[in-house]
Amino acid sequence: MRTQVVIIGSGPSGLLLGQLLTGAGIDNVILDRVSKDYILGRVRAGVLEEGTVGLMDRAKAGARMHAEGLPHDGFSLAFDGRDHRIDLYGLTGGKRVMVYGQTELTRDLMEQRALTGAPSIYAAANVAPHDFDGQNPYVTYERDGINQRIDCDFIAGCDGFHGISRKSVPEKAIRTFEKVYPFGWLGILADVAPVSHELIYANHPRGFALCSMRSQTRSRYYLQCALDEKLEDWTDQRFWDELRRRLPAHHAEALVTGASFEKSIAPLRSFVSEPMRFGRLFLVGDAAHIVPPTGAKGLNLAASDVHYLFEGLLEHYQDRSNAGVDAYSAHALARVWKAVRFSWWMTTMLHRFPDTGDFDQKIQEAELDYLTHSRAAATALAENYVGLPF
Ligand code: APR
Ligand code: PHB
Repeated sequence: MRTQVVIIGSGPSGLLLGQLLTGAGIDNVILDRVSKDYILGRVRAGVLEEGTVGLMDRAKAGARMHAEGLPHDGFSLAFDGRDHRIDLYGLTGGKRVMVYGQTELTRDLMEQRALTGAPSIYAAANVAPHDFDGQNPYVTYERDGINQRIDCDFIAGCDGFHGISRKSVPEKAIRTFEKVYPFGWLGILADVAPVSHELIYANHPRGFALCSMRSQTRSRYYLQCALDEKLEDWTDQRFWDELRRRLPAHHAEALVTGASFEKSIAPLRSFVSEPMRFGRLFLVGDAAHIVPPTGAKGLNLAASDVHYLFEGLLEHYQDRSNAGVDAYSAHALARVWKAVRFSWWMTTMLHRFPDTGDFDQKIQEAELDYLTHSRAAATALAENYVGLPF
């Protein structure tokens, strides 16, 4: 088989790239090692920047997102028993974010792909990129016990942090940067009304808490927890009690509780690998970088990588210019590092670290107080949160 672009990975990066390429008449095949249902069973974050919303529209997969997603003009920072609104809309001259679950976005892209008839191959084993240093790269995989090969012009490695694409590059050609945080996030989903119509990021001496949502009737809550915490030790009752303790009193009193239907613990890490291009292989999204969820940037960074790569491939096929493809790694990384910095900063300001003493707690509260009372400081936070321009 032959195609123009083989996309390894059917997460948000691979699906978004695939549908943008399909819309531009560039043939592509998506390969994933797991099934569609498995991918749709994963619960991930849910705050979209305007740039991400625009890419969903361009991929012709934005209709349900506009109908069901919740546009948010601000969020709250809670600390020292109070909460303060960050007016995203006012501070950024009219920008907002869209609260829409990554699972739903993935489903919309899959459905749009099925409508266009573009090929996706699920349950593909032993996927491997080859000869991407030369002019004739190809990808091999196994399906139902039969070895297959797809020849192509380019390979997009959209296969996440544990994927094969980054691992296929010789170690000496790649440089990695990593920070692992000494805590995790315990998250739950419950069909209860959100405690507030906007997100609340709470700094508390007992640890960070986040109140988020998926809809007017479905809430997503997180608590900072130790990495060795066991899920079975966290009954719903214990979760709700702990969340109440970490919120200002008026929110704690308003909190609606109920049975959770999803509960998981995720570790927090910052990771970047450089460069993001190796000949005709490109790394995209989580395959190249991970950010802690505190800034809600993971999915949005994947989308900005897709934007740069799509524009580069479009130039290659339509204008016969490799300028965009050649600039992909530098352009993507410049934006990646700014989001890595922002996510690290939000994480550092809002969490309790093992060595956070009373002094450090006071410094965090002073920084939060400054942020919520200085228009200049709040503007810097807001412009990063809504997303820096592509
Ligand atoms: N062969 C084929 N497919 C693979 C392989 C492999 N060896 N390894 C991983 N994959 C697939 C996974 O099964 C998954 O469906 O690649 C896909 C990668 O998807 P994601 O991990 O969702 O990564 P990405 O599309 O870059 O999305 C980034 O999703 O993971 C979150 O926090 C992240 O929000 C961010 C966004
Ligand atoms: C979520 O809704 O899952 C969510 C929202 C904001 C974040 C992280 C996660 O910063």
